[in-house]
Amino acid sequence: MTDILKSGAEPPKVKLVTEVWGPIKSLMAARRNILEIIPMAATKQPMVSGRTGSVRWHMVMDPKAIGRILKENLDNYPKSDVTKNILKPAIGDSMFVAEGAHWRWQRRAASPVFTHRNIANLAPIMTAAADVTCDRLKAGGVIDMYEEMVKTTFDVISNVTFSGSGTMDSDAVHHAIDRYIDQTARISLFDIIGVPTWVPRPSRMFQPNALKQMKRIADQSIENRKKHGAKPVPDLLDLLLEGEDPETKRQMNMAELRDNLLTFIVAGHETTALTLSWALYLCAFDPEVQDKLRKEAGSVLQGRVATAQDCDALPYTEQVIKEALRMYPPAAFVSRTAQAADELCGRQIRRKDTVMLPIYALHRHHDLWENPDQFDPERFADGHRPERYSYLPFGDGPRICIGAQFATIEAKIILATLISRFKFERLKGRDPRPVMVLTLRPEGGVPLKVTQI
Ligand code: HEM
Repeated sequence: MTDILKSGAEPPKVKLVTEVWGPIKSLMAARRNILEIIPMAATKQPMVSGRTGSVRWHMVMDPKAIGRILKENLDNYPKSDVTKNILKPAIGDSMFVAEGAHWRWQRRAASPVFTHRNIANLAPIMTAAADVTCDRLKAGGVIDMYEEMVKTTFDVISNVTFSGSGTMDSDAVHHAIDRYIDQTARISLFDIIGVPTWVPRPSRMFQPNALKQMKRIADQSIENRKKHGAKPVPDLLDLLLEGEDPETKRQMNMAELRDNLLTFIVAGHETTALTLSWALYLCAFDPEVQDKLRKEAGSVLQGRVATAQDCDALPYTEQVIKEALRMYPPAAFVSRTAQAADELCGRQIRRKDTVMLPIYALHRHHDLWENPDQFDPERFADGHRPERYSYLPFGDGPRICIGAQFATIEAKIILATLISRFKFERLKGRDPRPVMVLTLRPEGGVPLKVTQI
C-alpha cells in the first residue's frame, strides 16, 4: 500500500526544447520523442518557424491562422507528404489521405455511416465491451490500463467492422497494426526533420508481411459479407457497402472499401484507447475528480453498464474526457505541405514548406489556456466551448475526424462504467511519460492499482 501516490501538482508533461538545436541533436531527440522537438516557444508564441536540413517548417498556434489552414485555404494545405508516406502503404488512397475530388466523394459516401442513429445502433457493442472489461478487471491488483483499453477498443472496432466474418483473428489484426504503427512511425521522424527521401528507412524492410496480413483479413471479411448479406443491425462494413456519394452516385469498389475500413481501424482504435487510458490516469492523479465522476456515474447507472441512452446524463464524464484530450491529445501533431505561397501571422509561407499544428503545444498555450499544465475538467463545465481552433483533438474544418462522435460515445460508455465499479490509484515512480510515436502514447503503459468497489 505504501507505493500508492496521493495527487501531485501537475500530471507528467513533455520537456520542450528551450535552446536552438542543430540537425543531429534534433534528430536524436525526435527519434526519442517527436514532441521533444517542439520548442517551448510554441506554448507562448503564435507561430515558430525554422529550417532543418532542406526543409522549411512552421509550427502554427494562432487560432486565426489555423482556421486558414484547416478551412479557408484548405486546398493549399493538403496532408503533408510525410503523412502520406507513412499511411499510404497501409490504407491506400482512402479518405484519410486522399485529396480534392477523390477525398470529397469518399467523405460524402461515408458520412451517413456515422449519423447519430447509426452510432446509437452500434453502441450495444460498446456496452458489451465495457462489461467484458469489468470481468477482466475483477481480480484487481496492479493492471496496465493502457493495455486493457487497447483490448477494449479493439473489441469494439473489430466488432463494428469485420464481426461475424468467421475469419477474423483479432489478435492477428491487432498485432499487424501494432507492428505497422511501431515501424512506420519511425519513418516520420526522419522525414519531418528533413532527412532526404533517398536515405534508407530501416523499418521499411519489415513492413510487407504485417501489411499483407491486415489486407488479407479485410478482403476475406468483405467477400464473406457480400456473400452472406448484411447483419440484422448494420455495422460499419454494411453501412459502407450501402454508401453512395449523393452527387456522383459513385460507390466504393472492393479495394476502396477495404482501405477505408482499415482506416477506421487504424484511426479509431488506438486513439480511443489512449483517450481512455489518459483519462483513467488523470482520475487516479486527482482522486477528487474520480470521486465526483463516480458519483455521477453511480447515480445514473445504478449498477448497470452504461449505454448510449445514458450519455446525455453524464456531463461530468464528458468534461473529464475533454480535459484528457486537451492534455494528452492522441493525434498530438498534424502536418500539411503548402502548395503555393501564402501568408500566416504576417509571415511568408513558400510552396513546399511544412506547416505543422503541434496540437499538444496548442492545448497548453499560455495565451489560450489558464494554468495550461494543470488538470482541470471545470474548464469544460456548463458546456463551455473554448475559442474556435484553439482546441483540436479531432482537427477541424472539412477534414475534421469523421469518427469524433463515435469515439466520444464509446469513451463515455466505457469510462462511466469502469469508474462506477472500480477505484483507480497511482503508483509511486510509475507515472507514464507522454511519448509521441504516431500517436501520443504513455511510455511504460498506465499501471494503476485497481480495486473493485
Ligand atoms: C479519440 C479518438 C480519436 C481521435 C483523437 C481522432 C483524431 C483525429 C484527427 C485529429 C483527425 C484529423 C487529422 C488531420 O486533420 O490531419 C482525424 C481524422 C480522421 N479520423 Fe479520427 N480520431 C479518433 C477516432 C476516430 C474513429 C473512432 C474513427 C473511425 C471509426 C476515426 C476516423 C477518422 C478518419 C476516417 C479521419 C479522416 C477524415 C478526413 O480526412 O475526411 N477517428 N481523427
